[in-house]
Amino acid sequence: MSSYKLAVLISGSGSNLQAVLDAINDGRINKAEVALVVSNRAGAYGLERAKKHDIPTMVIDKSNTSELLSALNAYEIDGIVLAGYLSILPPEIINIYSGKIINIHPALLPMFGGKGFYGIRVHQAVLASGVPFSGATVHLVDCGIDTGAVLVRGVVPVLPDDTAEDLQKRVLMVEHDILVMAVKAMAQSRIEEMTARPAIFVDEKDKAGVLEFAKGLKELGEALKGS
Ligand code: GRF
Repeated sequence: MSSYKLAVLISGSGSNLQAVLDAINDGRINKAEVALVVSNRAGAYGLERAKKHDIPTMVIDKSNTSELLSALNAYEIDGIVLAGYLSILPPEIINIYSGKIINIHPALLPMFGGKGFYGIRVHQAVLASGVPFSGATVHLVDCGIDTGAVLVRGVVPVLPDDTAEDLQKRVLMVEHDILVMAVKAMAQSRIEEMTARPAIFVDEKDKAGVLEFAKGLKELGEALKGS
């Protein structure tokens, strides 16, 4: 079987791109390659990461749909990963690659998603709400904002003294884990299977706190049933 060709679209640091490249290099993701990295910002550090791996890069303005489409065709791209891409893809591209575009969002969708929820604002909103957990979500891209079917969520605790920056760093770690899980599924044609039963990932170090919280929820549910 030939290798599944990915285009990764970025706007900034590209640490999620790096997580995918590392997983391909060490064999956690099989039969997939990053064939193209596109940024909508010229100075994005992710472009340097791609160059270090000899991956072709392009800077394409978010409004230039025809240039992006030609590039995807030229590199025979099978699937698209939005990894910190801070623009909305045009419907033309979403329709052509329907079911083959995934996005990583730094919160537990459907909470803290949609218009205006990007970057540090997401984590500020999470802290302001007082929820005890946050995390990240990989979902299919449809024509809405953060509305496509979910493949996998990664959960992290919100700690009492967290700043938005602390939470952002903790969430970014779990983004890397779940993005690798989703890209692996993509390369193995398991996306539909995953959306039918979205996975929940919790890192070993956070497991005890998350299980304790889930137990509390269960007890609350039982108590409410009895009331
Ligand atoms: C991540 O938090 C991603 O979820 C958000 O932008 C950030 C990008 O990080 N949309 P990086 O460029 O992959 O390091």
